[in-house]
Amino acid sequence: MEKIKLGSKPMIYPMPVALVGADVAGKPNFMTIAFIGIVNMSPAMVAMGANPSHFTCKGIVKNKTFSVNLPSVKMLKVTDYVGLNSGEKKNKSELFKIFRGKTKTAPMIEECPLNLECKLVKKLTLGGTDEIYIGEIIETYCEEKFMTDGKPDVEKMGTYVFTMHDNRYFSLGKMIGKAWSDGKKYKI
Ligand SMILES: Cc1cc2nc3c(=O)[nH]c(=O)nc-3n(C[C@H](O)[C@H](O)[C@H](O)COP(=O)(O)O)c2cc1C
Repeated sequence: MEKIKLGSKPMIYPMPVALVGADVAGKPNFMTIAFIGIVNMSPAMVAMGANPSHFTCKGIVKNKTFSVNLPSVKMLKVTDYVGLNSGEKKNKSELFKIFRGKTKTAPMIEECPLNLECKLVKKLTLGGTDEIYIGEIIETYCEEKFMTDGKPDVEKMGTYVFTMHDNRYFSLGKMIGKAWSDGKKYKI
């Protein structure tokens, strides 16, 4: 077996695709984020790596709130558009229907099947291109039509994933197993 060394690369395959929102200069603004994931169970927390020069980051730092919105496959083009254009130059405040929750300053996207309303708890500077924004998820929103037995159902939501460097989006495949369960059948 010969492994080819690819260098120091941010290669977790695949990555999620999220629209992260904040109010900037009194208007909702969104950025597309792939460097994002859950980092604490209780209280529920999310961490994202983002370049602090992004327009959205200015609003996150000012208001100490932000939203994480998971788009469906139907929203692929608009989500890519959000990632190609900065609110510094293009007004992205009219792209989506907005709703607000407890914080009032974290704009959330109605069209997205799942929305996380977050309070910024920490910002970490790593000395590289990006900073880490850690948010406590203070509320989660999902429509009944995207749920099964009271839980968000990825097959109904139609969320999708991304691979970096080759810049491709993929829809999700079929369910292939049950977590905390299939391992019990593993024979050593
Ligand atoms: C698929 C995709 C994933 C992206 N992921 C990230 C990311 O994880 N971190 C980041 O800083 N920028 C990421 N970007 C770039 C920002 O979304 C982009 O610079 C955006 O225009 C920033 O918008 P704003 O200046 O209005 O905040 C991504 C873009 C795309 C298309």
